[in-house]
Amino acid sequence: MATAPFSRRPAIVPAAALADDAATLDAVCRVLDAGDLVAVPTETVYGLAADATNPAAVAGIYKAKGRPAFNPLIVHEGTVEAAMRHGVFDARARLLAEAFWPGPLTLVVAKRPDAALAPAVTAGLDTVAIRVPRSDAVRLITARLGRPVAAPSANRSGRVSPTSAEDVVTELGEAVAVVIDGGPCVVGVESTIVGLSGSHAVLLRPGGLAADAIEAVIGEPLVRPSADPARPQAPGQLASHYAPRAAVRLDATNVRAGEALLAFGSQLPADADNAVATCNLSPSGDVSEAARNLFSMLRKLDASGAAGIAVVPLPQGGLGEALADRLARAAAPRP
Ligand code: TXA
Ligand code: MG
Repeated sequence: MATAPFSRRPAIVPAAALADDAATLDAVCRVLDAGDLVAVPTETVYGLAADATNPAAVAGIYKAKGRPAFNPLIVHEGTVEAAMRHGVFDARARLLAEAFWPGPLTLVVAKRPDAALAPAVTAGLDTVAIRVPRSDAVRLITARLGRPVAAPSANRSGRVSPTSAEDVVTELGEAVAVVIDGGPCVVGVESTIVGLSGSHAVLLRPGGLAADAIEAVIGEPLVRPSADPARPQAPGQLASHYAPRAAVRLDATNVRAGEALLAFGSQLPADADNAVATCNLSPSGDVSEAARNLFSMLRKLDASGAAGIAVVPLPQGGLGEALADRLARAAAPRP
């Protein structure tokens, strides 16, 4: 239906074409306007975008991902000003928006009663998750569309998030009408989510912006919700997530028969040669590089056919918190 301007599904559109060619931008917006889905590159991971004001379009996101209806979506806007129309921004929220948007940060704030969002975007909550990504595609699309897009990561529910256009096609195939190809994501893990709807600022999900940078701006420590996997604070933070097919074994100091190795730094486990396949998150020991590589390397090692993936111990500070979170969920017992 809505894909008329593009002859194959999914159509792959280079991100640069949105800026260079008004007809292409218009065609992509017509797809969204008709309620269909467009995968968009952001600095964190690729998002699966739909018109956030259109209930049928938003329902399409849940269907394409196989996502449980209780798990709300992030509203993406192109500017701080537009983002503020959907939620109540207190002084802390304004400080964080000004300091880090556009960037890898999502704020959960009280939803404004007049916010024109499809109810399923917030899964019936009175709070809303909002983000202004560092993404020319999102900025151009929302400006031309004149409406926000709702966008979860463009993977099937519970699986590894996509950090390239090819990953999106592997995950979603024809469920998505158009994939905007912006190349590999530069941050590589999802945004950090901060809850600001209560009196304390809460770290709902560690991510691509280090928690200490956020604490420095608001001048207070972020509260870490108790790690009770049965009662996730962000509804989507279920214990098992980001899960490759292969079993993931953390803090590995050796490689067992049949395992692939996910290494970090220059020192490899003594029996690294036994590994079915090896990837090194950052040979030089750079945590940002490791975050950028994490999901693509998990996919690659999974595709090697290894029975398991042994992951060496990783550093803990800064972005190490997001790495540890994603790997713990990748290693958690599957439902
Ligand atoms: O980097 C990102 O954040 C990517 C890109 C595409 O922007 N998006 C992303 O979306 O990671 P998703 O849907 O995979 O994860 C969003 C998380 C979920 O865990 C969801 O439960 C949580 O945000 N969330 C959304 N609305 C919320 C709310 N009102 N309160 C608490 N958590 C919320
Ligand atoms: Mg996700």
